[in-house]
Amino acid sequence: VIHIRRDAGCEWLATELYELMEAQPDAVLGVATGSSPEAVYTRVTEKLLAHPLDVSGISAFALDEYVGIPNDHPESYHSFIDSHITVPWGLNPQRVHVPESAAGDDGIPVHTYDDAIAAAGGVDLQILGIGHNGHIGFNEPGTPFSRGTHVQQLTPRTREANARFFDGIDDVPRSSVTQGPATILRARRIVLLAYGASKAEAVAAAVEGPVTQEVPASVLQRHPNVTFVLDEGAASLLS
Ligand code: F6R
Repeated sequence: VIHIRRDAGCEWLATELYELMEAQPDAVLGVATGSSPEAVYTRVTEKLLAHPLDVSGISAFALDEYVGIPNDHPESYHSFIDSHITVPWGLNPQRVHVPESAAGDDGIPVHTYDDAIAAAGGVDLQILGIGHNGHIGFNEPGTPFSRGTHVQQLTPRTREANARFFDGIDDVPRSSVTQGPATILRARRIVLLAYGASKAEAVAAAVEGPVTQEVPASVLQRHPNVTFVLDEGAASLLS
């Protein structure tokens, strides 16, 4: 667990990402959406502008996507990944993947997403956020740890938390496609970001509580290389 000022945590992870892409030009990144990693992605963009790298061999796999909104919807995770990562970093769009429930011509359908990650060599560095209920990806409490990428109903709490990105709760999709706990655990290294006291309970349960499917992030205790990057609020309930 790294307990650090938010901007310093962003800088640390952005440097890790930049150095990974520099050292390993065919690295496979696992990328989360949501508010927690946004500033990290911006810092990586700044680093790439200041010191360009050949990123043509880098691949990225997103964690999740809503079901029921078009890929070009401004709040879709396709749009997020495009505008925060693919375009500003200059990645090859053919190597950037977001799961889809009904894949179009160039998408990877849900049931083959894990195979596509394996075929790319597996994720070298997976970035995660955490939900107030302990979800990672959109794996809500109760999701079996054995599940791979699948379609998942969103809980009312998650839909409320994400209503800020939409015109209102009614516009928030009811389900999603998400990498499963088993998918996430196959990444070689995982970094989870959490900020603010509203995440403190979920963080404490994930780090110090029992490993239980009721707290999806607690499965990370079974992974040998996980870092939690927390500000004071998010770390406040850790012993
Ligand atoms: C996003 C994702 C979610 C978020 C989590 C926290 O791809 O999978 O698990 O990481 O809901 O969201 P923020 O960072 O917006 O608080």
